[in-house]
Amino acid sequence: MKENEVQRYVEDLPRHVGEDVTVKGWLYNRRSSGKVRFVQLRDGTGLVQGVASKKDVPAEDFERMDRVPQESSVIARGTVREDRRAPGGVELGIRSFEVVQEAEDYPITKKDHGIGFLMDHRHLWLRSRKPWAILRIRHEVIRAIRRFFDERGFICLDTPVFTPAACEGTSTLFQVDYFGEPAYLTQSGQLYAEAGAMALGKVYCFGPTFRAEKSKTRRHLTEFWMVEPEVAYADLDDVMDLAESFLSAVVAQVLRERKEELEVLERDTTVLSRVKPPFPRLRYDEALALLEKKGLAVPWGEDFGAPQETALGEAFDRPVMVHRYPARAKAFYMKEDPENPDRSLCVDVLAPEGYGELIGGSEREDDAEALDRRIDAFGLPREAFGWYLDLRRYGSVPHGGFGLGLERTVAWLTGTGHIRETIPFPRMLHKIYP
Ligand code: 4AD
Ligand code: MG
Repeated sequence: MKENEVQRYVEDLPRHVGEDVTVKGWLYNRRSSGKVRFVQLRDGTGLVQGVASKKDVPAEDFERMDRVPQESSVIARGTVREDRRAPGGVELGIRSFEVVQEAEDYPITKKDHGIGFLMDHRHLWLRSRKPWAILRIRHEVIRAIRRFFDERGFICLDTPVFTPAACEGTSTLFQVDYFGEPAYLTQSGQLYAEAGAMALGKVYCFGPTFRAEKSKTRRHLTEFWMVEPEVAYADLDDVMDLAESFLSAVVAQVLRERKEELEVLERDTTVLSRVKPPFPRLRYDEALALLEKKGLAVPWGEDFGAPQETALGEAFDRPVMVHRYPARAKAFYMKEDPENPDRSLCVDVLAPEGYGELIGGSEREDDAEALDRRIDAFGLPREAFGWYLDLRRYGSVPHGGFGLGLERTVAWLTGTGHIRETIPFPRMLHKIYP
């Protein structure tokens, strides 16, 4: 950098009114009006309007501002001025305008592009206003997640991506060749987090998980991020209490820290500001009765699909917790309800406004024999679960936890209709480029 030159980020400019600064970024938009040039600059942290009068800048800079294509990389120097009408409350009075690289014709323009085109140009589309806002909110959700668990003494325990067995059903496994043996990309870190909970008391894992989802929906990715807390000596009620305060804390932090981004997305935040404990809690049977009234019942014993989750979510003003599903609809590791052995001690948290299941959790089967029977009944390979059964043989305790899908949560918080926009580079059925 040149001597006496202070680079400032756009988001910090309101604190530097009256100062001479350098902004390094890209040209987002420009227009001319007589002897004045207006350029919108973005630097990743925000957008600022730069204004240049012919008399204030060298002639060649002024001419450049008329001509440089969108997304050229540029460095602007000038004075930060208060401007109450501008989004951040400031504009930049430009005195010099340097072009680092003159962009070729940028493929993403103001006209309406189809989603297929935008997805094929995802690497460039990320620079646009809406993806920008969504990705910054995604980052805030991640921060809120870590903060919530870290402040409560949870230990972050990283679980493996290569695994020898299924956690969430064998139909969505991605198989890979592991030195001549079949292995699978992880569907969930839960089983390992259970081992972690027995070692460290309360833990969470947070990482990418993989499911070969063979249908195209607006709620499913083949690669998504999940945070999974697991707590020793927790029962289903503890799991529900934790899920409720956790989700409320995440929503509150996003509302507090990401006002500008939510505004860019024109997100109606009234529903979000109601997200506080207690959440309504319904047994599966109660939920089914409610669905019957809406003409959306499924046969008893079946899991709910998207239409049912949407209807249940829309029936309440905040997330709803449905618990004690029929055991045969759910995963092998869930503990049977001692009062109703054909039910599992599990819970799904469904979002309002039709965004579907955000969280799935349960109390885990902690009895070695019962678990062994479940592994058999689900047709799972016993050899792969020897270590998991060990956890029930050496100081078994009641325990439980849940998994929250990061992208589902971001879709809901940002009011984004399709999950593909909530992750930088989505992976879906037949979609692996860019
Ligand atoms: O309900 P799921 O399958 O639960 C588990 O994986 C448990 N092992 C979690 C646990 O108890 N530790 O998945 C949890 C959440 C869902 O509620 C949903 O938000 C998200 O993960 N999810 C997906 N998100 C995007 N694309 C997919 N294909 C998803 N499948 C699940
Ligand atoms: Mg689930």
